[in-house]
Amino acid sequence: AEAPPPPDARFGFAGLFGTFDRGALQRGFQVYKEVCSACHSMRLLSYRNLLDIGLTDEQVRAIAAEYQITDGPNEDGEMFERPGRLSDRFRRPFPNEQAARVANNGAYPVDLSVITKARAGGANYIHALLTGYVDPPAGVEVMPGMNYNAWFAGNQIAMPNVLNPGQLEFADGTEATVEQMSRDVTTFLAWAAEPEMERRRQMGVKVLIFLAILGGLVYATKRKVWADVK
Ligand code: HEM
Repeated sequence: AEAPPPPDARFGFAGLFGTFDRGALQRGFQVYKEVCSACHSMRLLSYRNLLDIGLTDEQVRAIAAEYQITDGPNEDGEMFERPGRLSDRFRRPFPNEQAARVANNGAYPVDLSVITKARAGGANYIHALLTGYVDPPAGVEVMPGMNYNAWFAGNQIAMPNVLNPGQLEFADGTEATVEQMSRDVTTFLAWAAEPEMERRRQMGVKVLIFLAILGGLVYATKRKVWADVK
């Protein structure tokens, strides 16, 4: 069965002049890092991109250095591991798709770099999905290794419910409710998929102001040029 369209979660970044809340982005990255990154890669992101969500240079360098990155070959032709740097891509949880499937009952935890663009419903869908693990209706049998989700197409999803109240401690002290974690990680994913959104909208506003002024000048000029024509 097709899942119904997700409800409008009224994200602050969704409006015409919407911006990404920096607190939400930082908490959202924390959720990705501590929960989602166990299974999902974000291969289009580099650690340095985290500078754009308001983390300091020092903080981002420390985050990168938590990961061992495969580099090389060195002078002896060997690959080696070293701590991550700002220029490294986010480390993937699995070396390839097969390994990811083996670890997930055959299902593939998709890369989350552009997931809010890749799914109908966008951010509203991701938030609905993450908060949509409910008991199956009477008479519905959930297949082995699968979980029931109200918003997933077909309702049976290989991803388990991963958000539980209080499972992590937000660095800024915000209470880690399921709703909060889901909204924040969804905000982070929306930013990752469209980091230029704020600049694009600012540019749009500037363009509109420019056009309004230009339009006024053109109109005034027209009046003047045609003033003597009866
Ligand atoms: C699928 C998000 C954590 C395993 C998905 C999908 C999204 C998602 C958006 C795609 C759903 C679709 O196709 O419409 C997240 C987020 C997480 C998270 C935001 C953290 C809050 C995890 C974890 C695991 C996992 C920790 C592993 C234990 C999977 C698997 C699928 C999946 C196996 C494929 C499901 C299927 O096709 O049946 N996830 N996920 N996810 N996720 Fe996650």
